[in-house]
Amino acid sequence: MPGYPELPEGLAYGGDYNPEQWPEEIWHEDVRLMREAGVTLVSLGIFNWSLLEPAEGTYDFSALDRVIDLLHAGGVRIDLATPTSSPPAWFRRNHPGSRLVDREGHVTGGASRHGFCPSSPDYAAASERIARRLAERYGDHPAVAMWHVHNEYGWTNAQCYCETSAAAFRGWLRARYDGEVQRLNAAWGTTFWGLTYGSFEEVEPPRAGAVGQLTGLQLDYARFSVDAHLANFRREREAIRPHSDRPITTNFMIPACKPMDYWRWAGEVDVVANDHYLTAARPDGHIELAMAADLTRSVAGGRPWMLMEHSTGAVNWQPRNLAKRPGEMRRNSLTHVARGSDSVMFFQWRASRQGAEKFHSAMVPHAGTDSDLWRDVVGLGDDLRRLAGVRGSAVSAEVALLWDWESYWALELEWRPSVDLSYRERMEAYYEALWREHVTVDFAHPAGDVSGYRLVVAPSSYLLTEAAAKNLHRYVEAGGHLVVSYFSGIVDEHDVTHPGPYPGVLRDVLGVRVEEFHPLPEHGTVRLDGGEQGRVWSERVRPAGAEAVRAFATGPDAGHPAVTRHPLGAGSAWYVATALDGTAPASGLRELLGAVLDGAGVARRRDLPETVELVRRGAHTFVINHGDSPVTVPGVTGTAVLGGTGHGGTVTVPAGGVTVVRH
Ligand code: GLA
Repeated sequence: MPGYPELPEGLAYGGDYNPEQWPEEIWHEDVRLMREAGVTLVSLGIFNWSLLEPAEGTYDFSALDRVIDLLHAGGVRIDLATPTSSPPAWFRRNHPGSRLVDREGHVTGGASRHGFCPSSPDYAAASERIARRLAERYGDHPAVAMWHVHNEYGWTNAQCYCETSAAAFRGWLRARYDGEVQRLNAAWGTTFWGLTYGSFEEVEPPRAGAVGQLTGLQLDYARFSVDAHLANFRREREAIRPHSDRPITTNFMIPACKPMDYWRWAGEVDVVANDHYLTAARPDGHIELAMAADLTRSVAGGRPWMLMEHSTGAVNWQPRNLAKRPGEMRRNSLTHVARGSDSVMFFQWRASRQGAEKFHSAMVPHAGTDSDLWRDVVGLGDDLRRLAGVRGSAVSAEVALLWDWESYWALELEWRPSVDLSYRERMEAYYEALWREHVTVDFAHPAGDVSGYRLVVAPSSYLLTEAAAKNLHRYVEAGGHLVVSYFSGIVDEHDVTHPGPYPGVLRDVLGVRVEEFHPLPEHGTVRLDGGEQGRVWSERVRPAGAEAVRAFATGPDAGHPAVTRHPLGAGSAWYVATALDGTAPASGLRELLGAVLDGAGVARRRDLPETVELVRRGAHTFVINHGDSPVTVPGVTGTAVLGGTGHGGTVTVPAGGVTVVRH
């Protein structure tokens, strides 16, 4: 990583290493095999707390000392974890008040990881203590390359509903509303149903059982819960910092973990690290993977990031855990690298024999080293050595999709106009259309600086502040192009509708007014006058400056606009009032975006088959062939560092293969 000479050279390669599950003689074999595979970095000690501190206040670092020395002797660097995602059994017993209480009021069971309340002062003290002990002991050990604080904050304990959390929430609200409960009442709109609070003491977490709860309360509870986890991260980070100058991070779960607002997390870590698991049953899973990588890079502010976990093959927690097909692990890995990762790491090094994850794939499978999987692992190590020069380079994009976790939460609260409204569904539909058009995209926060993009697309901006809307207005006036999908710009940060007709704060920039929503029945469709088919949504759009590009031909809004374009200042703003997908004649989202991309002057390849993914990262072009037959791609000049060499700038990529060319 640029600026972090402590990290191994080139692209880091390795995975989670859990030697405590194995007798010591296996550790020696592990290090030998790591060298064979070209492993340079392992995440060590993630689930080690009960061994390091077998009883409260009693420590034993002897086994960790030995494994660290062994890895050091073998030249494998360490991403040293604090073990605080899995408190020991004694912690639950000694501190029963720290147990996580779910929304239904169940005190969650033990015998698993997480399970603690993120607002627990006892957890805070215990986790800080073990982090400090580790940093004091290993902070300047030459094998330690970086710190891996905790593991996946908020995965199964994103929100706790115990009395400790309730009290912490009230304190958080006091600070947010300057100690004045009337400000809270005004923000949440509590005159509705007479839900006005007389004091902060009367506020309860949004526990289960009550129907139609204040949505402002629910959104603030989600924000408070992010802050609770962030406070835990910061406390450990500050315990480590005085003893170590190595980069400190924690592994995010973008985009799988809906409750964590990673725009807020990004500034807290020295390097953004992400875990991503392919949804193997999805035929287009590799497109969702590309989206996750682009979103992670964007959260990292465009800087290189680290793929901290993915899988060599099947996971153990999907309904049907499909193995990866030949070449798929390599394509997945190199897609992450193409889109900005400076590492390829897996969960986990050696497949477990015990516990919940024994059927999860690993770098060393149960089958051992005489297996295709192991040979692929060794081959990938070789690929990454050849790609060392990619490290630190940037990906640039001319198009940004707006992504906001707060809008994601708000859109999917109860009592929306249709259960078919889904944040991810629209986001992925637009991402996929752009992916198939061979357009590389960034993601941006709606209030962030988007001035450098030729095109900004807002597939799902239900919650949008006035400031963000002004940001978009300025962007279009200055010559930017904007595409907005239905049910956007509707509410403020407290889920209160913006005054006046829909689409609220986006009315002016889009030049339309929406009189009424007409969500479609389950599986219902409407036809547009260009022959396209819309799903989920129809609405009555009245142009107010915009021109109609398409009208509804059927359904409740037949004869009224379905797609509009508003020339504004030096730019234009498009509005799409139904769910378009794919390619004409069925739905035509790609044709629509194609026209917008052309109008915005976005460069794109039109000569590539849809199965080819072509990404430029710095001086390297990655050509990934997801199809079943070889493809010939012209216009890629330079030296092939991976895959066959080409002639006159034309490369041939075998079925399922990857070619990387350096310019
Ligand atoms: C997560 C965790 C790992 C492991 C994997 C399994 O990402 O961080 O410890 O449980 O999932 O896929």
